[in-house]
Amino acid sequence: MVINSKISLQETLEIAKKEGETIGLVPTMGALHEGHLSLINFAYSQCDRVVVSIFVNPTQFNNTSDLEKYPRNVSKDTEFLKDHNPETIVFTPEVEEIYSDKVETEPFEFGNFVNFMEGEFRTGHFEGVGSVLKRLFDIVKPDKAFFGEKDYQQLMVVKKLVEITGQDVEIMGCPTSRNEFGLAQSSRNFRLNDAQLKEAELIHEALTKAKNRFSTNSIETIEKEIEQLFQSHPSFELEYFSIVNEKDLIPTKTKEPGEKHRAFIAAFLGEVRLIDNMALY
Ligand code: PAF
Repeated sequence: MVINSKISLQETLEIAKKEGETIGLVPTMGALHEGHLSLINFAYSQCDRVVVSIFVNPTQFNNTSDLEKYPRNVSKDTEFLKDHNPETIVFTPEVEEIYSDKVETEPFEFGNFVNFMEGEFRTGHFEGVGSVLKRLFDIVKPDKAFFGEKDYQQLMVVKKLVEITGQDVEIMGCPTSRNEFGLAQSSRNFRLNDAQLKEAELIHEALTKAKNRFSTNSIETIEKEIEQLFQSHPSFELEYFSIVNEKDLIPTKTKEPGEKHRAFIAAFLGEVRLIDNMALY
């Protein structure tokens, strides 16, 4: 079922809620792939009804060309969902449904979670993500909302968002879905040609290398090795490689005993910006 008005969506969900059904929300920007399917399947294992929203959120793009080039194909996405999960409620709002007549970003105090990595290189990105999710949570009022760990920093920010807004929704993280060569599934992969898709495996290779080296090498040594690895592949431009403490996402050069660490990468392959991360434990 495809619904594009929030009133119709709320009427449909009201009936389900009255019957005691629980609601799961999988927010997406479309260009659906296997990674989204694994989120949707996980949502079905936890909730009676699943809403997938498809909305390319203008306020989270700090670069107009990135927003313009973001892959969009709602009819292909709805067919894809019909084939895999026909009972899913697909919410495809227009910009005015979400933002009324003012497309603007709300300020949030996300603290350290947004000071580094994506927050540093994409100014205002997380405030844009917070602005749209706050609205989507208000419209859908889901019991649980599902996010992939590929966007691990986003996952932490969304947990902080609901702490700030007090919205009664449980935020669920799901493991990154990868192809057989380790490449994280991403809508941006649709913009890569076959040769680039093969080259993009370097990102997973770098993270795996960092993980294998972590117990025996210093963070500085690992960072140098990863930078050199990317320098030897000139089709890439490494934006950042950071090892952070998992609890606060602050980059660190020291391995604090008893703390968990995670490595994060953002790199351009041609014009396409790819991100990924991996637990180092
Ligand atoms: O991860 C995404 O696709 C987007 O950031 C999200 C969560 C759908 C918000 O627009």
